[in-house]
Formats: sequence, structure tokens, C-alpha cells
Amino acid sequence: MVSDLAALVRERQPCVVLTGAGISTESGIPDFRSPSGIWAEYDPMEYGTIAAFRRDPVKVWEFYALRFQMLSTAEPNAGHLALADLEHRGLVEAVVTQNVDGLHQRAGSRAVVEVHGSIRSASCLECGERVPLEDVVAALQDAPAPPCPHCGAVLKPDVVMFGELLPAAAIGRAVELARQAGVLLVVGSSLEVQPVAGLPAETVAAGGAVAIVNRGATPFDHLAAIRIEAGAGETLSALARVS
Ligand code: APR
Repeated sequence: MVSDLAALVRERQPCVVLTGAGISTESGIPDFRSPSGIWAEYDPMEYGTIAAFRRDPVKVWEFYALRFQMLSTAEPNAGHLALADLEHRGLVEAVVTQNVDGLHQRAGSRAVVEVHGSIRSASCLECGERVPLEDVVAALQDAPAPPCPHCGAVLKPDVVMFGELLPAAAIGRAVELARQAGVLLVVGSSLEVQPVAGLPAETVAAGGAVAIVNRGATPFDHLAAIRIEAGAGETLSALARVS
């Protein structure tokens, strides 16, 4: 199967990769919808929506403080490194990621489109001041919800919460990449969340092929020319080896 995937990637250039939380679980970061995922422990309606954040920023910041702690100690894994290697060898054009952990960039990927934002900074809901992660982590030592250093209002992590629009430039670029892709390789995503889950159909509508590497079914498996039920790290490492 991996050799079939390598042939598809080679024959159907350019290859664009779409990743989800499943590529980072091997770095110790839980995903969202696995039985052991985040939303099994935390109710997304209480911790994952912009309404919940505005209602009780301290409660949502407690959740994010835990995530920041976990993400700050995570390292890129074999899956991230394989994608960076494939990009450097001209076989992957870009990575569109739903992840906010920054691990693709730390692995060496250069063309990374973060469609759900990142934990790299937080911004003030009132004045728009942007504060880097290290300053937010420092502020969290003194206050459960870090205040804006400029106007004192509450800061919000620069990650997309349910009920928020995605960064227009990022999702616009992601759709453009999906439409131009000869093959869209989906790795480690349940493809449950729109508008990102609509990207495979964009590729197919524009004449491209879709491949899915994921543990567990997705609603778009029927669009996949190749579907591999296996770990992201092992599969992408094998793909890089045979390509
Ligand atoms: N290898 C392959 N697949 C894996 C691995 C792994 N090592 N670990 C987990 N998976 C699979 C899971 O079985 C699941 O099908 O990856 C998928 C991850 O799906 P989700 O947890 O739904 O994550 P994701 O698709 O990225 O969620 C999209 O939802 O909550 C929002 O904003 C959040 O960006 C996130 C979005």
C-alpha cells in the first residue's frame, strides 16, 4: 500500500498534505475525537467555543494553560520529519494543518498553512494587541486569565474556537492548494470539522486524487483513491523511504 501511495504521489504532483491531530499523538499530544481524546474529557461546548470563552475566560484559560504546558514540551515525531524531508526533496508542495502545535515548522517544513491558528501567540479581544506565547505563559503564573499588557482586557489564544471564522488568508490558501493538488494526502484527521473537511472534495472536483492515512474511518473515505489504516509516523516514514 505504501508503494502504491509513493507511486500516486510521484505521478500526481503536486502533492499537498492535510494533517490533523492524529499526526501529533505520537508526540504525546492527545487528539480530540479518539476514545482517549480531549473532547472525551472536556466538553467542547464548555471549553472549545468562543461563546464559552467570553462567558468564562478563566475556565477556558485553565484548559489552555494545560495545553500550553503539554505543547511546550512536545517534540516533532517521525511523521512530521518525513513530511519535511519530502518537501525538501520536492515531493510535497505544502502542508495544510489543523494543528496549533507548530510541530511541522519545528520539524523543518517551510510551506505550512495553519488553518486553525496556533498557540504561538494570544491576542486582546478589545485592542487587538498580539502577545507571544512566552509572555502569555509568564502572565499565566500570576493571573488565571492573562490581561492585555496594552489595555488590560482579557487575552484570547490565537487558535480558532468553534463559532469563530477561520483566518481568511489561511483557509483561502488551503482551498487554492486543494484545487491545484494532483493528490491531497490526508493524515491523522477525522475530517469531522468544516470547512477543512470540505478540502478533499475540492481536490476531487478539480480533477485531483485523494489519499487518506488514518486510524479510523472518515466521512470522506469514499473519495480516497488510496486509504491506509495505519499510524501516521510509520506510514510517512515508509513513504519517505520508498519515494
Ligand atoms: N496515526 C494515524 N491516525 C491517528 C493517530 C496516529 N498516530 N492518532 C490518532 N489518529 C486518528 C484518530 O483515530 C482520529 O481519526 O486521527 C484522527 C484525529 O481526529 P480528531 O481527533 O478529530 O482531530 P482533527 O481531525 O485534527 O480535528 C479537527 O477539531 O476540535 C477541533 O480545532 C480542533 O483542529 C481540530 C479539529
